[in-house]
Amino acid sequence: MPKHIVRLLALLVVLALMFVGGKYFFTPKSFRAYGHYRAASVEEIAVVKPRIIDAASFSAVYPKEYATWSENIHQVVQCQACHMATEKLSDRAGGPAAHDQRATKALPIPRDSLKLCVECHQKIAGRPASMPQIDVVSHTQGKQCTACHNPHSPLFSPAGAPVALASSSGGTGDAAAGKTKSALCAACHGPAGVSAVADFPNLACQKEPYLTGALTAYQSGTRGNAMMGAIAKSLSKADIRNLAAYFAGLSCAR
Ligand code: HEC
Ligand code: HEC
Ligand code: HEC
Ligand code: HEC
Repeated sequence: MPKHIVRLLALLVVLALMFVGGKYFFTPKSFRAYGHYRAASVEEIAVVKPRIIDAASFSAVYPKEYATWSENIHQVVQCQACHMATEKLSDRAGGPAAHDQRATKALPIPRDSLKLCVECHQKIAGRPASMPQIDVVSHTQGKQCTACHNPHSPLFSPAGAPVALASSSGGTGDAAAGKTKSALCAACHGPAGVSAVADFPNLACQKEPYLTGALTAYQSGTRGNAMMGAIAKSLSKADIRNLAAYFAGLSCAR
């Protein structure tokens, strides 16, 4: 065999040995325990905690928005649900870099509320009736939702004027309709919202947003009570507003 071929073969043998040796020494021990990946990585990834910040931690950075949000109906929606998760990152002011702000307290601002708000409020046949829904095209007439609704307190306009809901006769609730409906409540809460039983709370002259909030919480189950849960589930959004307006307007002076 010519000398140069022998050398070439020797070189190939050396390379093959380096490959086999390298594979033996450098392949992590857990590789192929389950499949074509490093099994230990499963545990390593599971240990990493998500670095998402809860709503309260934004209170110092954005006191104004936090205060508005925490006292109004959208307090059930976390800041990040609107500010980080619902829209595609490229649709937000700040662009893709905003993604890395998850661990900081700066929130990227959603630019396109028409895309954001419909994720939850578009009318869909299977959506539960307790979720307020709109027919987007006829409702918005092409305008941004934020032109008419403050995103942090959507029952008010950005300028602070109440948004009059079609389901009531003006203001936020119809006390006369509430009075009719309150026949359902009289046995426990008293005919005029003052209860005779120690375990049943008074409702008369309670603050209206508190009553709306309590009834909504019973309806959704976030406030658990077997009696009130069953009753609240039978009420519509309009019933809740009307009952709240009625009881808030009753006197509790005795
Ligand atoms: C329901 C969705 C939603 C929730 C929940 C929400 N935001 Fe917003 N936020 C928006 C939208 C939409 C805008 C853009 C408003 C606009 O374009 O006028 C905005 C704007 C802002 C701005 C900028 C205001 C300005 O004048 O430039 C801040 C700051 C802010 N939000 C903070 C918060 C904080 C803090 C929370 C939680 C406590 C929160 N947001 C919860 C939708 C939301
Ligand atoms: C992640 C879901 C979600 C997103 C996004 C969202 N909302 Fe809401 N919104 C809710 C829920 C839940 C309620 C009902 C809260 C309750 O009844 O306690 C609500 C209530 C409302 C109400 C009051 C309706 C009523 O009949 O009482 C309005 C108005 C509203 N949202 C407008 C908006 C606007 C405008 C945006 C976009 C800036 C938006 N929402 C984005 C979940 C969402
Ligand atoms: C031109 C102003 C305007 C725009 C734009 C607008 N809304 Fe409204 N919205 C209102 C008014 C006024 C009401 C109360 C009357 C009613 O219930 O239709 C209302 C009511 C609602 C309600 C309560 C419906 C109910 O029956 O409980 C929801 C939810 C809502 N809007 C969501 C949105 C969302 C989401 C957008 C954007 C996709 C949007 N709105 C855009 C003016 C507007
Ligand atoms: C079978 C008796 C019963 C009936 C009927 C009843 N409730 Fe209640 N309600 C209770 C009890 C008990 C509680 C206290 C539950 C708790 O601890 O959360 C309560 C609590 C409440 C609260 C919360 C009060 C607070 O201070 O936090 C509201 C609001 C309320 N009811 C409204 C109503 C309305 C409106 C009706 C009629 C549609 C009604 N209830 C019918 C028994 C009843």
